[in-house]
Amino acid sequence: MIEIDAGATGVERRVYWLSVFRRYGDGEGPERHFLVAEIDGRVVGFIIGELRDWEFGEPPCGWVFAIDVAPEFRLGGVATRLLGALRAGFRRSGVRKLRTILARDNTLILSFFRSQGMMTGPFIPLEMDLDV
Ligand SMILES: CC(C)(COP(=O)(O)OP(=O)(O)OC[C@H]1O[C@@H](n2cnc3c(N)ncnc32)[C@H](O)[C@@H]1OP(=O)(O)O)[C@@H](O)C(=O)NCCC(=O)NCCS
Repeated sequence: MIEIDAGATGVERRVYWLSVFRRYGDGEGPERHFLVAEIDGRVVGFIIGELRDWEFGEPPCGWVFAIDVAPEFRLGGVATRLLGALRAGFRRSGVRKLRTILARDNTLILSFFRSQGMMTGPFIPLEMDLDV
């Protein structure tokens, strides 16, 4: 995972991914999902998501906040299967909505999510600089 992410972003974020793994990779409880795709025993992609309760006053929904497939294994349906497994996990928890947020200029990930049926939702992201 660290390797796949470093390949995509150009930055090795070992400490970050180890902390994500500790938080989401324990397999405990239905609310956190950390799935990998394997081909011939090699991890070629991953997806991470969680169930969030009553965020923005909305009923519980599933969030996907990371998905990545190693470049040499792309366009083979790996991400579609990862997202399908995540959706199935959320459905088992009784959740009826899946959400994500993505960078405006990341047309690759946008094309992927659109291909899976995701549409613009009712929320808009806001941000501000915090003075230090
Ligand atoms: C987006 C990504 C996850 C897709 O993985 P993948 O395994 O190649 O996806 P799939 O093979 O399941 O593709 C499903 C659909 O997505 C769309 N899609 C995928 N790659 C695409 C591309 N390069 N251009 C346009 N559409 C694309 C297509 O509609 C595709 O369906 P099709 O093959 O029938 O045309 C992968 O390209 C990736 O990891 N990109 C980097 C992700 C990233 O930036 N992560 C950091 C933010 S979380």
